[in-house]
Amino acid sequence: MFDALARQPDDPLLALIGLFRRDDRPGKVDLGVGVYRDETGHTPIFRAVKAAEKRLLETQDTKAYVGPEGDPLFLDHLWTLVGGDTVERSHIASVQTPGGSGALRLAADLIHRLGGKRIWLGLPSWPNHAAIFKAAGLETATYDFFDIPTQTVLFDDLVGALEGAAAGDAVLLHASCHNPTGGALSEAQWLEIAAIVAQRDLLPLVDLAYQGFGRGLNQDVAGLRHLIDVVPEALIAVSCSKSFGLYRERTGAIYARTASRASADTVRSNLAGLARTSYSMPPDHGAAVVRTILADDDLARDWAEELEAMRLRMTGIRRALAEGLRTRWQALGAIADQEGMFSMLPLSEAEVMRLRSEHGIYMPTSGRINIAGLKTAEVAGVVHNFTSL
Ligand code: LMR
Repeated sequence: MFDALARQPDDPLLALIGLFRRDDRPGKVDLGVGVYRDETGHTPIFRAVKAAEKRLLETQDTKAYVGPEGDPLFLDHLWTLVGGDTVERSHIASVQTPGGSGALRLAADLIHRLGGKRIWLGLPSWPNHAAIFKAAGLETATYDFFDIPTQTVLFDDLVGALEGAAAGDAVLLHASCHNPTGGALSEAQWLEIAAIVAQRDLLPLVDLAYQGFGRGLNQDVAGLRHLIDVVPEALIAVSCSKSFGLYRERTGAIYARTASRASADTVRSNLAGLARTSYSMPPDHGAAVVRTILADDDLARDWAEELEAMRLRMTGIRRALAEGLRTRWQALGAIADQEGMFSMLPLSEAEVMRLRSEHGIYMPTSGRINIAGLKTAEVAGVVHNFTSL
């Protein structure tokens, strides 16, 4: 029976992990999958995570099931970080998920269940967005979000897409640190988006995977908070992979901003039901770590300080890279002002493959680079190789 299956291509982004590992050249550079690395090329475990893990090891006294909704204290603390007190808490439905991808999938399943047919996606976007929506049975409608040669956010195209969308359509928005372009929306633009979404009766699904990696912990959710202040209903998919460095622990949550306490209860029960028929219950460890950190002022302060140091390292790399690259591509000076881990270079697939084979520089064929994969000492060499293509 298995003969009926066709071999599927490996995920091109994740395949880079294996390709890079198997390359034994000493000067190789990994600008592929979005993982933070420090100046020694290491992905550190946050000090606060280690401390929380120690505490859990000593105090945790059961491994009994957590239930399909996950840990309510984790969900509550994480929401304080994300939404603050923007929306009446009883109007928020929440379910803990296996990472941000699990949250996106539950959101897509919920949209499908409530009769939504279509979700709008600005391109380029994280490749897994379209794949997740398709797997959940949604049709994807696209518009151009970013122009790579000029490094500009195409806000008019975004507005045009929202204005052309049908009532009931969903729309995917990146809260900040846009993956893959780093292109940012201003506060005024978020307010405009919120007004159109509300007026046209659209359902926003906001992907928040890099809080603290862009302008700062509060700044990175300011647009999202404006949005949920104005619109009656929204879905927010949160990942703790980057912000807490918990990648392999698969820690995330889906939140729904609803219009009433009763609606929140209905949405929560649907999300929990969808989880139950998919993976049943989320893994506990990462969420227990996040809950322990956020519930303790000292751990939370230490975590925020370490996160801020990471952010500053990334902004420093951004500035150095922009300074070098603008000598060949004037527009790439904009990399200094973009936010988060990623930027897109105007490279052809052939150029990306040459960089890989000739210099051991790894990135997806889209030309996306992981800024956080670069050490300061590598910037000049990488700039040289990019600009001499
Ligand atoms: C990325 O975009 O590189 C990360 O979000 C990792 C992933 O799962 O693709």
